Amino acid sequence: MRVLEIDHPLVAHKLSVLRNRATHSSVFRQLADELVTLLAYEATRNVAVAPVEIETPVTMMTGTKLSNPKPMVVPILRAGLGMLDGLTRLLPTAEVGFLGMVRNDETLEVTTYANRLPEDLTGRQCFMLDPMLATGHTLIAACEYMHERGARDITCVTLLCAPEGLKAMEEALDPSIDLTVVTAAIDEKLDEKGYIVPGLGDAGDRLFGVVD
Ligand code: URA
Repeated sequence: MRVLEIDHPLVAHKLSVLRNRATHSSVFRQLADELVTLLAYEATRNVAVAPVEIETPVTMMTGTKLSNPKPMVVPILRAGLGMLDGLTRLLPTAEVGFLGMVRNDETLEVTTYANRLPEDLTGRQCFMLDPMLATGHTLIAACEYMHERGARDITCVTLLCAPEGLKAMEEALDPSIDLTVVTAAIDEKLDEKGYIVPGLGDAGDRLFGVVD
């Protein structure tokens, strides 16, 4: 498993505004979107491409195009939805699937309540969107789901990771998956409620206006 913690002043600045509890939902949504686009630039570094013959106003040349099959982008509902536009801005031709997963706040167990994905993901490059890699339970379940359908190349894009969640993913997931985690920061730890510390609170609530 590769972990890319993006070291860039704009990423650090936007993330700090997101962390601030005084940041209102509308600003939070806008900055999360911009931050994901910055992360998407790194997350797509190994996106599959093929040569293509093109004619410039001057001459013929061999250019580059995204190859088939199309990449698959999968926001994990609910909070991953707030990352979808930021990623598809750079990959507008990608197919979008959906996975609805919910964490029980008491047991921290994850269950799938919705799935809109092709049955066969063989050969597809998959980009999973979930802002907070906390215990890792959600992303582990989501990656296992994709792996069972044939996905072997999975990139998880997150705003924040906890070291506990990264360790859990490394231990739980089949090593045959070509797995990359791209994140704006790896924080210190999880608290007893499973929140990332220092973190940014509940990403879904802050994205969708449940808290001010
Ligand atoms: N999910 C969140 O939204 N925030 C956390 O800190 C952990 C999980």
